Amino acid sequence: MFYANENYALLPESYLFTEVARRLKEYRVSHSDREVIRMDIGDVSLPLPEVVVKAICSAAREMGSAGGFHGYGPEQGYLFLREAIARGDYHQRGLDHIGADDIFISDGAKSDLGNLTDIFGEGVRIAVAEPGYPVYVDANVLDGRAGAGSGGRWENLVYLNCRPEKGFIPEVPDSEEPGEVADIIYLCYPNNPTGASMRREQLAGWVDYALRNKSLIIFDSAYEAYVRHPEAVRSVYEVPGAERVAIEIRSFSKTAGFTGVRCGYTVVPRTLSFTFRDGESASLNRMWGRRQSTKFNGVGYIVQRGAEALYTPEGQQDIRRATDYYMRNAAMLREALLKKGWRVVGGEDSPYIWTIPDIGGRYVEGRSLTSWQLFERLLDEAQISSTPGSGFGSGSEGWIRFTGFNTRENTLAAIKRLADLSEI
Ligand code: MLT
Repeated sequence: MFYANENYALLPESYLFTEVARRLKEYRVSHSDREVIRMDIGDVSLPLPEVVVKAICSAAREMGSAGGFHGYGPEQGYLFLREAIARGDYHQRGLDHIGADDIFISDGAKSDLGNLTDIFGEGVRIAVAEPGYPVYVDANVLDGRAGAGSGGRWENLVYLNCRPEKGFIPEVPDSEEPGEVADIIYLCYPNNPTGASMRREQLAGWVDYALRNKSLIIFDSAYEAYVRHPEAVRSVYEVPGAERVAIEIRSFSKTAGFTGVRCGYTVVPRTLSFTFRDGESASLNRMWGRRQSTKFNGVGYIVQRGAEALYTPEGQQDIRRATDYYMRNAAMLREALLKKGWRVVGGEDSPYIWTIPDIGGRYVEGRSLTSWQLFERLLDEAQISSTPGSGFGSGSEGWIRFTGFNTRENTLAAIKRLADLSEI
């Protein structure tokens, strides 16, 4: 008799962004005369860079010719793209120790973040920053590692509180007693959802912790192209020793408009060597390669040629232009919300704005709106859709997230609507 995976019953029925989309659809059906401006999911609005379009067209033509056809590709990704990444994102930034063989091409950050749980050993303690991208928690719940849930928290997870007064940077735990150590630590900087960025010395504290305790860091740097502050980290490998304790996840979605094209990559350095419980040595690079070749078909040749074009001088300029454009949107939104007296973070090294209508900058039960109430109110009164902060962790009640990813025109319209909005 077949039994379904009970862990699915533990999670809320829909994924955060699916629930936002559902409510939005419902609203649109009942208010078809109103135009909603989407500031919720981080989906980009600028078209694909011309250099990418050209490379994709040329690769498609190549595939249509007898001599240029490509069938199944390597699951790790074509060497031409892995070499371009190693050179462009690592060697040219002084990180020579990351090579093409450490890189695995993926269809985006979410898939790899969800799939990485396949290589975690049984009983490992998982630490997640709160607020945090919901996939870190949900993937572990589905895998049966999170235990029972109550009040939006899971008994087997370690929560790293990211507090506003600490700039939304989690503190390294004091205790390193056996049984209390975090074996796997999810970090995301520039951060989704708060938009905070991390300084090198702050990340060094985490890398040292992982080195001392043989922990693994999963470093999600999907938003690295938005870093503007010279001290803010773009890659975990800027910290010496990280190549022995960290996996890095990257995506072309937010940097080059690939949300509908699908391509990203994950770095699993060959220097990452952990042990199985019986003490035998395990290369995570080999294990991830084994996992991918078993369960993943790889990314299409045409798409990988498109991604390769981003590493030309023209491609790099396009990335800078696009990220500057979204950052300008974020900066304007930030200013408008500050003018309203809301507490605002982000928008400086990241396209996300994390905000709460001011009641001392915190949620006060009975006096403040919950995140979902605020979402509904903004939708109802200003036709702006946002992402409820509580979807990134129950500790973020009252907060919401806006993105700078919409067009300039829509962002300006949203700012006007926010200015006209009555007091919350
Ligand atoms: C976000 O808005 O946080 C992300 O775009 C959602 C995603 O990539 O799944």
